[in-house]
Order: sequence, then structure tokens, then C-alpha cells
Amino acid sequence: RTARFTLDPAFTVGEVNPRLFGSFVEHLGRCVYTGIFEPGHPTADADGLRQDVLDLVRELGVTAVRYPGGNFVSGYRWEDSVGPVQDRPRRLDLAWRSTETNRFGLSEYIAFLRKIGPRAEPMMAVNLGTRGVAEALELQEYANHPSGTALSDLRAEHGDKDPFGIRLWCLGNEMDGPWQTGHKTAEEYGRLAAETARAMRQIDPGVELVACGSSSRSMETFAEWEATVLKETYDLVDHISLHAYYEPHDADVDSFLASAVDMESFIESVVATCDHVGARLKSEKRIDLSFDEWNVWYMSRSQAEVAALDWPEAPRILEDSYSVTDAVVLGSLLIALLRHADRVTVACLAQLVNVIAPIMTEPGGPAWRQTTFFPFAQASKYGRGEVLDVRVDSPTYGTKKYGEADLLHATAVRAEDGTVTVFAVNRGRTEPLPLEVALGGLALTSVVEHSVLSDADPDARNTLAEPERVAPHAAGGTTLDDGRLSAVLEPLSWNVIRLA
Ligand code: AHR
Repeated sequence: RTARFTLDPAFTVGEVNPRLFGSFVEHLGRCVYTGIFEPGHPTADADGLRQDVLDLVRELGVTAVRYPGGNFVSGYRWEDSVGPVQDRPRRLDLAWRSTETNRFGLSEYIAFLRKIGPRAEPMMAVNLGTRGVAEALELQEYANHPSGTALSDLRAEHGDKDPFGIRLWCLGNEMDGPWQTGHKTAEEYGRLAAETARAMRQIDPGVELVACGSSSRSMETFAEWEATVLKETYDLVDHISLHAYYEPHDADVDSFLASAVDMESFIESVVATCDHVGARLKSEKRIDLSFDEWNVWYMSRSQAEVAALDWPEAPRILEDSYSVTDAVVLGSLLIALLRHADRVTVACLAQLVNVIAPIMTEPGGPAWRQTTFFPFAQASKYGRGEVLDVRVDSPTYGTKKYGEADLLHATAVRAEDGTVTVFAVNRGRTEPLPLEVALGGLALTSVVEHSVLSDADPDARNTLAEPERVAPHAAGGTTLDDGRLSAVLEPLSWNVIRLA
């Protein structure tokens, strides 16, 4: 059976915020050390930043880069990470049972962002685990105040005369999780987040603040946590965070392929919770969603790896290698985010390099693209503009977790110049899926490109030994005639169809 939908410019979801293509750099494993930063590497520049990695980060098209954690931030002492490198202390990182050298810190992070280019933006988290209002304010003053105060002058003394201009701030990380250093109840966190937000706005009313939502939808406190936190912070914050990671459980690949069903319903539940609190407060204000950690993560493997650590520096942990199947799921998660672009205005693929990442590196050696690199890079490149409302009429397949799920998952984005890109996933593992799209009100006449990521071996991946094994290829036979797009989506595939 054929999957179908209609695109009409009169029916839209909303404008894509470029921050939807954010990423995340945490002091965790080799994300920073030997990932983005490796003095002595053949491609390292004067700041110790790997140029080969920077090139891939630019190609990936990331925007907001969240930093420095993650769980790491809940023990973070920002002042350890600034000033002369030789004076920076070595500290225990409780979150990842590692030793933090502080060789890379705040100034190096900003230098990294500036080198990515103008599209990159800082997204800085403050520590609300072991610390509180005072330290958040000190960090904000050090980072953003132009000059003439102790901390802004200290920044200049450290070599950064220009303020960092950080607008987007996370008020802690996953404070609902019992694993979080300084874990809090919703009431405790809500009060602390509110007072931190109030004070940060006293320094600069223009900051944009993200309150911690639940660390996963499966938390027992989910939704109640968001409601309680927002009751305290509604007028003081702009976003609430969502985190979700997906992996196949019990080899159930069919459910794994439908992970976006869960992600979409998670988003809709958080929107409903935000709007419920808004209604109770009789507020006109709308809280947006910051999906600031999302990815495929074989988390069950990582737990044992971390538990076995004995305080090493930059250990090889959470270094998932991604297959074609994983890339198709990741593409579908991107589609889910785009389909909710009216409310999800920030999203961060966790993480950027080596740690559950689209980019891998070898110390002293090469950097390469994982399979998951491709859907992200293509969505960031072509998913800019207005999301069109896509209601699919699709054949379905049975899943253990989500019941009958659509074989087709899709969205479409119309760019300013009127061109349209359809992003589509065929979740079916064995059969091609014919697709028909009615383009009625859109003045489109040609197929510019149909790019597909699929492979005869769904487990194929890019590795150090074979870094270019998997890449998107051109699909044949896609046509646009009389306002009707016809394509065939290969089994288990991520598709980008560009129309002009
Ligand atoms: O991204 C890895 C970890 O996952 C983060 O540190 C934490 O916030 C989440 O649990």
C-alpha cells in the first residue's frame, strides 16, 4: 500500500528556530579531551583545538552548544576552569568517576564556538547541585559583564577583554534524578531555580533561562515535577527541558524504529503540562520546550563502564558506534522535533564528539562521521524555514511497545525562497514504501534531489578501520508531475527529498 500526505502552504506548524540543531559538549569521557581539544594533535591550532574536528562540526551544522554538562555541571566550579592553565586545579568529577584537569575551560569553550562560526551559540549551564544563586551570579558577571567589576576585570586579565555574551542559560541539570549530585525534590529545585532566575535577570533581564524538566519521561515524578517547578518559575523562565534517549530493548528493533512515537507524545505531554500551569496562573505567557538532550544511546552498556572507573583522565566511555538502523531512528527523532517546531525551540543532540556522538576521533589520529552524522547535517542544512503541517495516511506495522505504528514518518519544511524539503523515514525493515505527496497550493515543479541513507546491511557502520563505509546516496525514480510527488522509500531508510 502507498503512504500519502498533502502539503499546503496555508497549513503550517511554525517557524524552525535554528537552535533546534543544537548539540552538547560535556566534560565526559573523550568529548572534550582528545575530542574537540587535543594540543599536540597534527591538526591542532594554537588553542589546542583539532581542526579536523572543527571542520566536521561546521559540516554538521550545529547551532547552540550546551556546556559543560550534563551530570558534570552539578559538581562544576567555574572558577577552576579559568585563568592561567598551570594554576588550574585537578578535581574529582563525581558524575563520571574521572579526574578533571580543567585544562579546557570557559574561555576555551567560547574560543571553540567562535571558531565554529557565526551560527554557533553558547548555552551555558549553572551548577544548582552543589552550588546556588551566588555562584551562578558570579559566573554570569565573569562571562557577560563588560568591565569595571572584580569579575569582569578578572576575565580581561585572563585574556578575554570582550564579554562572552551568553544569552541562553540552563538552571542546573536533571535535578529530579537521584543520581544527580545535589539532587532535589521538585519543591526544593523550583524555589532554587526561581531565585537563581530572579537574580540572573537582575543582572540582565534579557537572559533566556531553561528550567530543568524531568530527566526522562519514565521518571516516577514526571509531569508532577514539571508542574511544581513551573508553578515556582513560570514568570521567570523561558523554557523547560526534556531529555530522552532511545535504544532497542530485548532486540525489539521494530519498537526501536518507532521511538519517535514516544518522543512526540512526550513533547505533547510537556506542552500540555506547561499550558495547564499557565492556565492556572491565568498567564498569557507561553513556556517553550528545550529538548536539550536527545539521541540513540546504548545506555545499558554505559552504566557498567562508568561504575568500573577509578578516576582516570578522559576515559573511553559512552563511545557508542552507530549503525544504519540507529541513523534511521535518529532521523525519525529529528522529524519529531521539526513536527513540533512551534513549541520546541531549542534541542541539543547529546553529544558532539566521541561520547554518544555523530563525530568520532582517535587520539593523534583521524576524525570521522558516524552514520548518525548524515541525517543531522542534512536536517540542519535543509530544515530551515517554516514547517508545513503533515498528516500522513500510512500503512502501519505492529510494534510491542507502541501497538500499530505508521510505516511512514515525515515532515516538510518550506524555505524562504519557496523551495520545500520533505524528510521521510520508512520504518519497514523489509519492504519498500511507495509515497505520494499532493503539493496542491505549492508552486513546485522539480525534484532537485532525493538523497537516501539505507544499506543492504542495516548494521553497517563507519569505523576507524572503515570510516566511509556508510554515506547517503541518490535515489532514482522520484518524480514530480502535475503537483504530485511520487517516490519509493527503500526499506529502513532516511530520505531527504528537495523540491523547487
Ligand atoms: O549525555 C549524557 C548524560 O545523560 C548527561 O550527563 C546527563 O544529563 C544525562 O543523564
